[in-house]
Amino acid sequence: MKDDLSLVLIEEEEQRFRVSRGAFVREDVMAEEYARIFDKCWLYVCHESELAKPGDFVTRTVARRNLLVTRDTKGDINAFFNTCPHRGATVCREPSGNQKNFQCFYHGWVFGCDGSLKSQPGKESYGEHFNEAGNANLVPVPRFEIYAGFCFVSYDPGIQSLPDYLAGAKEYLDVVAVQSAAGMQISQGGQQYAIRANWKLLVENSVDGYHAVSTHASYLDYLKNTNGSLTSTAFEGHGHDLGNGHAALEYRAPWGRPIASWIPLWGEEGKQEIDELFNQLVEHHGQEMAERIAHKSRNILIYPNLVINDIMAITVRTFYPEAPDYMVINGWALAPAEESDWARKYRLSNFLEFLGPGGFATPDDVEALESCQNGFRNYRQVPYSDISKGMGKAMPSYDDELQMRAFWTQWDRQINGAPEPQRIGQADTGPVSSAAEAA
Ligand code: FES
Ligand code: FE
Repeated sequence: MKDDLSLVLIEEEEQRFRVSRGAFVREDVMAEEYARIFDKCWLYVCHESELAKPGDFVTRTVARRNLLVTRDTKGDINAFFNTCPHRGATVCREPSGNQKNFQCFYHGWVFGCDGSLKSQPGKESYGEHFNEAGNANLVPVPRFEIYAGFCFVSYDPGIQSLPDYLAGAKEYLDVVAVQSAAGMQISQGGQQYAIRANWKLLVENSVDGYHAVSTHASYLDYLKNTNGSLTSTAFEGHGHDLGNGHAALEYRAPWGRPIASWIPLWGEEGKQEIDELFNQLVEHHGQEMAERIAHKSRNILIYPNLVINDIMAITVRTFYPEAPDYMVINGWALAPAEESDWARKYRLSNFLEFLGPGGFATPDDVEALESCQNGFRNYRQVPYSDISKGMGKAMPSYDDELQMRAFWTQWDRQINGAPEPQRIGQADTGPVSSAAEAA
């Protein structure tokens, strides 16, 4: 933004990091975010396990574009814009399934899983050399890459490779991906809901260990009251800046883990299976990694808007703004492919009971986020939020705010095109340039 360099302020002497509340409410900021962030980053689209067999497909909306992701007969995964090259209709209108071909409902053109045009009604009316160059095939998304089973697209043809982009977040995705010898899979079904709040409030909340004890007090009380072995609600761990805007919390938490550590919550029923699982982890990855997987929880933010909560279940969650004060969230549960029925049932209960929109945690978070958004109506009078907790500490705690500063620093680089956030500045109250001007 040409005339507005004060959305993020760092006052080093005071060890203060502040973010303009205008960034949460202004239409022009959202337009810039679509142009400068969502069009320029790697964005999560689906998990490889959702496309296990040739012909499997999913349709997804990623940063306002409808996409069709397929596994073709050669076994390759392809991501296309889900719009007919003929005159624009949506080619595939199902959320997922298995098909040899996709027929556009408007005039009946048929495309293979590799995107090639297979047939057209009235083909004789087209020239002999029609589509020899392939320009009537489905159009692939400019970039598509997979890391550790997580499939990403980018609308920027010149973006760096996905592994380079992921930087230090690769290690955390690896910890999630290696939890099963048979591979991780998305469990069928998902959650979709909306929050009347800016999408960046959910970014902050997703890596915010500070709020857990107060916002989620009722869940922690429930654990204490329903499980005699749970005597503490203490957390212990650290926050990490993983580079390029990515961040994570990793900590020991008072709840059970879905991998090899359910015993406190499950009793004797699954003990043998749990012990076997742990031994397998030690065999495959060594004692240290096995302990990390089994006993530590992680909240991982892949900039800008993929959150993987590896806690009492594993959720994979993305969210996009439809308006500055309204976002739509999609969430899926990730699990070891070979998990037994009881463990999967228990995992999915946690996916619903804690992490779901009707569960113990998410409604508390929704209320907090909507309350913040409401507070931002006064953004001209109360112009900044404070994200300073733990600044200057060599090793920030899980409940410091380093993770949010990592996100906001990258956000500011992209929005303002500045190499570093503004180090000192005035409150943001004025207009900014439009996305069109900036482009
Ligand atoms: Fe798809 Fe015409 S728009 S066949
Ligand atoms: Fe929360």
